[in-house]
Amino acid sequence: MNISFLGLGVMGYPMAGYLAKAGHNVTVYNRTAGKAEAWANEYGGATAATPAAAAQNADVLISMVGNDDDVRQVLIASGALAALPEGALLIDHTTASATLAQQLATLCDQHGHAFVDAPVSGGQKGAVEGILTIMAGGTPQAFARAEPVFQAYAKTITHVGPAGHGQLCKMLNQICIAGVLAGVAEAVHLGQKSGLDMQKAYQAIKGGSAQSWQFDNRVPTMLDDKYDFGFAVEWLRKDLGIAISQAKSVGAALPATALVDQFLAEVEAMGGKRWDGSSLLKRYRR
Ligand SMILES: NC(=O)c1ccc[n+]([C@@H]2O[C@H](COP(=O)([O-])OP(=O)(O)OC[C@H]3O[C@@H](n4cnc5c(N)ncnc54)[C@H](OP(=O)(O)O)[C@@H]3O)[C@@H](O)[C@H]2O)c1
Repeated sequence: MNISFLGLGVMGYPMAGYLAKAGHNVTVYNRTAGKAEAWANEYGGATAATPAAAAQNADVLISMVGNDDDVRQVLIASGALAALPEGALLIDHTTASATLAQQLATLCDQHGHAFVDAPVSGGQKGAVEGILTIMAGGTPQAFARAEPVFQAYAKTITHVGPAGHGQLCKMLNQICIAGVLAGVAEAVHLGQKSGLDMQKAYQAIKGGSAQSWQFDNRVPTMLDDKYDFGFAVEWLRKDLGIAISQAKSVGAALPATALVDQFLAEVEAMGGKRWDGSSLLKRYRR
């Protein structure tokens, strides 16, 4: 297939790489052109100077950018959707709002395209290893077309429901991450303040009922005070903001999520906008 990929960040770069490795003809666009050139040198695909140029001959157009505004910019304002050949499939992997996914589905319908919102989970590690989790929203026909594409970089792929439901599912995922991260950060904070051997405590807790992806993967880096990698605080806050706004729209309360979001705002104020979310620990150590 001719697949065009927009957005070669922490996640998009390796994901597009897996598509090239799977034998697809991949064209990439990145706002900062140097990343697209580096990607093409590494994987041998083509680069496009604009999103619309990338979309022109695509069977499948994929976006993996930052937030709702970025998706609107890269797909709509840039003319990419208008340039996409009729009958193509648009996949948005960005973590964005369910409202935006529904708007994209309507737009695609009007242009004769298929659409799937497909936020991912599994972090930078999951993208680099090609073992992401994908929660997808769209018609069964659109999902059936997207699934073989996803198989290049995902291990767990679930069709959750109609357009927007992939994003709703991702909101639940992010709420769980926020709560677990806060628990892990508080536990490490108490252990360190109390003089516990944290390497031994990590080994002791790891396989038990407090086990989690965050505990297994983030405690070692928290103990090294290492945060210059992974899932940026600004993206986690963006995701929590989307969940909080969705909750308001349906009359649900998310007090714990709101508190973690406030703590993460304090981490941002400490200069941590691009630190991994596990830097929440720094808020406790202030
Ligand atoms: N990192 C994770 O662990 C993780 C896990 C799951 C989901 N996500 C989600 O996946 C998405 C991407 O995350 P990431 O970590 O890959 O982010 P990132 O490293 O910050 O990369 C963002 C990418 O989007 C591009 N971009 C941003 N705004 C743009 C715009 N207005 N027009 C054109 N291009 C634009 C950036 O281009 P430049 O290179 O020019 O800046 C870059 O290629 C986010 O929605 C995030 O919430 C991330």
